Amino acid sequence: MKKIIAVIMGLCLALGLAACGQKEVQPDEAELDLDQIVASIEIKDDFKPKIGVVLGSGLGPLADEVDVVQRIDYDDIDMFPRSTVKGHKGEYVLGYLEGVPVILMNGRVHYYEGYTMEEVVTPDRIMAKLGAETVILTNSVGSLREDFKPGDLAVMKDHIAMFVPNPLIGQNNNGLGDRFTGMADAYDKELRDIAHKSAKEVDIDLKDSVFVQVTGPSFETPAESRMLRELGADTVSMSTAVETIALRHMGVKVMGINCVTNYCPNVVSESTSHKEVKEEADKVASDLIKLVKQIMKNIK
Ligand code: HPA
Repeated sequence: MKKIIAVIMGLCLALGLAACGQKEVQPDEAELDLDQIVASIEIKDDFKPKIGVVLGSGLGPLADEVDVVQRIDYDDIDMFPRSTVKGHKGEYVLGYLEGVPVILMNGRVHYYEGYTMEEVVTPDRIMAKLGAETVILTNSVGSLREDFKPGDLAVMKDHIAMFVPNPLIGQNNNGLGDRFTGMADAYDKELRDIAHKSAKEVDIDLKDSVFVQVTGPSFETPAESRMLRELGADTVSMSTAVETIALRHMGVKVMGINCVTNYCPNVVSESTSHKEVKEEADKVASDLIKLVKQIMKNIK
């Protein structure tokens, strides 16, 4: 009898282990993909970037300021998402900006193009894997308040990302970070202080923003603009907050800079909106370049 009980217990144990075995965490495919992408990229002269900079649409001219070591076209990287949006370039630029080793991500992919959020954040994660310990995310945004005018720059102090899928949904990639990522200090206070100090030095009025990401690609209706403002957002765009989440998951420090290109509907009268957008938005790229270069001097 004892023998039979022992056999049954043994069987139960084996079945239990088998059941546990099904739940055993497998080597994460996503991380293997990331590592494969990194391994396929040949970096010249063992260049190691310290800071990553993501360039939003229309902000590409910053790439011209880099003392270039290497350019890597996204088309030349296997398994890499490519932007389908006209005017969005797709390349990494590695080199020195004000003497600081940087990697510029010139062109990002968006959720509204049909990519998963995991794909959307892949180029950012690759920058971190290549060595970037800090990333400066820039983007074009619509303004939800009258005193954030087209042409203005704002450093992000917080964000609302709940209108878009979280890029960390799915099996956690333990090699990258923990299952649950704290977001209380998503935008590093020390970096925000550096941004303000730098802005003062180059005579730019830098605002502080709470920023909201939406999916797009349609712009906001008047009712949606009103709702976003009432929720506490100052600016809105179709990218960026998910990149902050993915980078914070990896322990990378983040600074975010909004370039205001337009007023959202209902924020000011139609006529004001049309006049200001064209005139002011043109100067935002040159101010951003000035600001980022000054930030590099102070971040060293
Ligand atoms: N809404 C959403 N995204 C944007 C806007 C906007 O008005 N302007 C630039 N990106």
